Amino acid sequence: MKVLVVGNGGREHALAWKLLQSKQIEQVTCVPGNGGTATMSRCQNLPLKVDDFEGISQFAQKEGISLVVVGPEVPLANGISDYLLSRGLMVFGPTKAGAQIEASKAWAKALMQEAGIPTAHAAVFNQATAAISYVKEHGVPIVVKVDGLAAGKGVIVAQKLDRAIEAIEAIFQGQFGSAGRFVVIEEYLKGQEVSVLALTDGFTIRPLLPAQDHKRIGEGDTGENTGGMGAYAPAPIATPKLMERIQKQVLEKAIAALRKKGIDYRGVLYAGLMITPDGDFKVLEFNCRFGDPETQVILPLLETPLEELILACIEQRLAQMPPIAWKPGAAATVVAASAGYPGTYEKNKAIVGILEAEAQGAIVFHAGTKLQEQKLLTDGGRVLNVTGVGENIEQALARAYAGIKCINFEGMYYRRDIGHRLKRIG
Ligand code: AMP
Ligand code: GLY
Repeated sequence: MKVLVVGNGGREHALAWKLLQSKQIEQVTCVPGNGGTATMSRCQNLPLKVDDFEGISQFAQKEGISLVVVGPEVPLANGISDYLLSRGLMVFGPTKAGAQIEASKAWAKALMQEAGIPTAHAAVFNQATAAISYVKEHGVPIVVKVDGLAAGKGVIVAQKLDRAIEAIEAIFQGQFGSAGRFVVIEEYLKGQEVSVLALTDGFTIRPLLPAQDHKRIGEGDTGENTGGMGAYAPAPIATPKLMERIQKQVLEKAIAALRKKGIDYRGVLYAGLMITPDGDFKVLEFNCRFGDPETQVILPLLETPLEELILACIEQRLAQMPPIAWKPGAAATVVAASAGYPGTYEKNKAIVGILEAEAQGAIVFHAGTKLQEQKLLTDGGRVLNVTGVGENIEQALARAYAGIKCINFEGMYYRRDIGHRLKRIG
């Protein structure tokens, strides 16, 4: 079986890597892929844009691709699944209608309210004056969210009133283009975040291992938000009891609400949850895809062949599958980023030490890298995801850090405290 993976991040490298562990998978093509997918055996890159639906479809038909797995949210929100399905291809990832759950925070909030899914109180606005009055009335801290996709930059957690007002004004002045036509203003929640990614065929929904991401650039969870600087799984804060409640009160309700709207959702539903200090939880957001870097710590622990699960979702027979099998132990990943990320950064720095990191037992997923004249160069903000697997999270983290210490490129930055919240659990 030949598979095509859409995307070029660490998540897509991990998806291709996992798929290729199965004997069923002959070859994986990544569109456009990165330096890691270019050099992995039985894997190749196809230099098309992720929004070139026609190019992707023509290649898939010509090459006899049996399955397309879509990584990022943007092509899903733009209807890549609808397009490929209409050309008779098998696609893993929701249609444009389903992807609204990530592409419009106002739409997702309404769905959660209709379905009775626990979530932060919120109100939606389409102009600044009313939004500012609401913020003044409710006080800070408060959270201002751009409705549409904003590459992780559309959420402002305002500790001061001025900051919230400034954010609202900037959004309605067009800072985020049409993504900012609506603003969601939300109650600020305290607690620890956990990512619950689940696979669904539109009827049955099954969670993967819970993971914890580290979204801020700085140690101690300080500084700007990023796409994610490190993660581990399984996250102990999501106890089996809590996972049962999340299954009933979030995942099953969301899939039923989507079905009620006539949306046939097959793919990943990712719930970003806040576990509040009283041990309760609320949904912060839904994503319509695998998380990045959560995927890089979940897939190394997955025992069931990934393509079997994906095909069961597409063919709507997830309920008949045996329980998802996991390897014992834990995984952790540390992101090596370019100097300046998540602001401006330089590219094209030579990367050294990956083989040495692998010799230390780390798995190195490439994110923003490219292969140029046989040289591996940086090509993005998040460059590598150095991953460790071990008997427990501490061992997994030690392997990831032993690996990352072998790697270097000019300006390389990484957080040295991934997993720091684990200590608070005891
Ligand atoms: P989102 O894209 O909605 O996950 O938001 C990005 C980040 O902003 C989250 O990972 C949280 O760290 C933070 N955040 C979002 N909503 C809230 C909230 N209601 N209370 C506190 N922090 C939030
Ligand atoms: N790691 C956060 C995300 O994938 O959205």
